[in-house]
Amino acid sequence: MPVYLDHNATTALEPRVLEAMLPYMQSLYGNPSSLHRYGRAMRTAVEHAREQLAGLLNAQPEQIFFTSGGTEANNLALRGYAAAHKPGCLLISAIEHPSLREPAFELRDSGWSVDEIPVSNQGVVDTDAAAELMRQKTPSLVSLMHANNETGAIQPLESVAAMARSTGTAVHSDASQTTGKIPVDFKALGIDMLTVSAHKFHGPPGVGALVLKQPAQIKPLLIGGGHEQGMRAGTENLPAIVGFGAAAELARQEMDSRAAHMSKLKAKLEKELHHIPEICIFAEQAERLPGTVQFGVRGCHGETLLLQLDRDGIAVSSGSACHSDVQEPSHVLLAMGVEPELALTAIRVSLGKDTNTDDIDCFISSLNTIVQNFRTSTVRVRNSHMAPV
Ligand SMILES: Cc1ncc(COP(=O)(O)O)c(C=O)c1O
Repeated sequence: MPVYLDHNATTALEPRVLEAMLPYMQSLYGNPSSLHRYGRAMRTAVEHAREQLAGLLNAQPEQIFFTSGGTEANNLALRGYAAAHKPGCLLISAIEHPSLREPAFELRDSGWSVDEIPVSNQGVVDTDAAAELMRQKTPSLVSLMHANNETGAIQPLESVAAMARSTGTAVHSDASQTTGKIPVDFKALGIDMLTVSAHKFHGPPGVGALVLKQPAQIKPLLIGGGHEQGMRAGTENLPAIVGFGAAAELARQEMDSRAAHMSKLKAKLEKELHHIPEICIFAEQAERLPGTVQFGVRGCHGETLLLQLDRDGIAVSSGSACHSDVQEPSHVLLAMGVEPELALTAIRVSLGKDTNTDDIDCFISSLNTIVQNFRTSTVRVRNSHMAPV
């Protein structure tokens, strides 16, 4: 049986979510902007999904703007903010996802200065450094992800948001990896913008949202139709939005039990991993997502391990799935001060609500064999380079 341990990359569509979506892919249709009964029925479905997502995030439904996913929401937050304000300073953490980093750095071309807040060796943003940078740079916007997609380290978002509020700095957070997994309370966090993605918590891919405290703070990227209160033009992806709402509702009801289940399995996994010589679990001392473990085994190249695990039917990620075709050490691990050689050994295991103990046993058994073979063959190669005596 194949074993899927890559839930931070994407999750399986939950059957109850599919059930909610199916009528909107079969018999129910209509353009939500149309005034007739078909259109009105679809408008009701979109607004119901908005309420379901608002319920999960403790936001007002009218603060939620549907997008095509986390990537678009991150782009909209930064580019939309820059389009509505004169160039200033943007602070981002050193461990942001590429969908945030790249639009951030691109803003330099339009006169923005962009600085990175460093993280500790546990992959957590240094709040003293954040305070100092805010004092020196007086940024107009700070973007700090809620938890990192590679290490799972949860960030001190509330503290950074409180600092920013005291200086009138706007705050965005990418909560793509936390939504549906741990509580995300938009109101209590006191931030201005929040990114969410549905497929990270058993919703469909290709749908996400940007939550905005004050929509007037940003300008839309897509115009021409006035959809989403003029924030994002384009006919709504109805089945996906309905699925997003259903996934949010289920996550709200089941979050605690899912998290408890994953935490238990994570503890078992880490206990077993510690028996492997020369293993390093990254961000081990940090508060992390319930299902995320990133580690490296010295001398065992991460991508090679990944491919060998794949041969045994086990799916994991090396570094981050979004740039796993690039053979460079992860910028997240480098920012934590991990040596490049060790960073290249990184494997990320991310558990899901349906992962079970057999999956963990199977992974550990396969990993042990691969690492042993790796070591034996490395010794063999090393010996074969020796001059014959
Ligand atoms: C932290 C983070 N932000 C953003 C994204 C992008 O989300 P999407 O796949 O919905 O575009 C991802 C997905 O890998 C992610 O992990």
